[in-house]
Amino acid sequence: MNNKKVAVSIYVFNFLEIGKKIDELIEAGMEWIHVDIMDGNFVNNYALCQKFCKDIKDKYPKIKVDAHMMCSNSEKYIESFAEAGCDYFIFHYETLTDKNPITVNNIINKIKSYNMKPIIALNPETSFEHIKTYCDDLYAVMCMNILPGFNGQKIIESSYSKINIINKYRKENNKVFKIMTDGGLREDTYKEILDAGADIVVVGAFVNVENNKLKGQFEKIKNYEI
Ligand code: DX5
Ligand code: ZN
Repeated sequence: MNNKKVAVSIYVFNFLEIGKKIDELIEAGMEWIHVDIMDGNFVNNYALCQKFCKDIKDKYPKIKVDAHMMCSNSEKYIESFAEAGCDYFIFHYETLTDKNPITVNNIINKIKSYNMKPIIALNPETSFEHIKTYCDDLYAVMCMNILPGFNGQKIIESSYSKINIINKYRKENNKVFKIMTDGGLREDTYKEILDAGADIVVVGAFVNVENNKLKGQFEKIKNYEI
């Protein structure tokens, strides 16, 4: 059975064509849109916002929308992203520093109290060990296969083994959390990422192709059987 989900990182497209791209992707079977939020502080770039999520949800209420918060103090924005209609709130473990006293448990509970599903993101250098104890309370663990901030980067090779380690832990301990990955999915990497145990894959550059190829490109990854 093919239970995997493919979330499309919408930031990758030309903004003037996004509506058209969404329509084509829905026709190809897209169920999940990944919205990259960047604050120019946690990462050296700026990207999307609450209004963008709301505009998508208003027009396509059935499509799942996540907010990938590449921001310091993302907990401040839980309420506004929930109001915008987001289904998943993805926060970075690396943002919970000494300067930001909120705990992993507190942020998870706050996200749940606003009826969103909590997902924790780990940068490539951050070990799964740090967050193992929170797995039961998370919807998913999202492994970054690249450094956050820019789409179109090449995958960091250690990503495959990290996904493998998490998948092994999940199986051996009968855990139900999902494994999500973001960044670096290409023709020569997507199979290995899925084979390693990812259930939800974010695709950006992979689907940033000419219009007549978009549907086929999305279906290729969606229909890949592990
Ligand atoms: C990068 C973002 C990703 C990115 C996808 O900071 O989080 O979602 O747009 O990457 P590619 O283009 O490699 O699929
Ligand atoms: Zn992302």
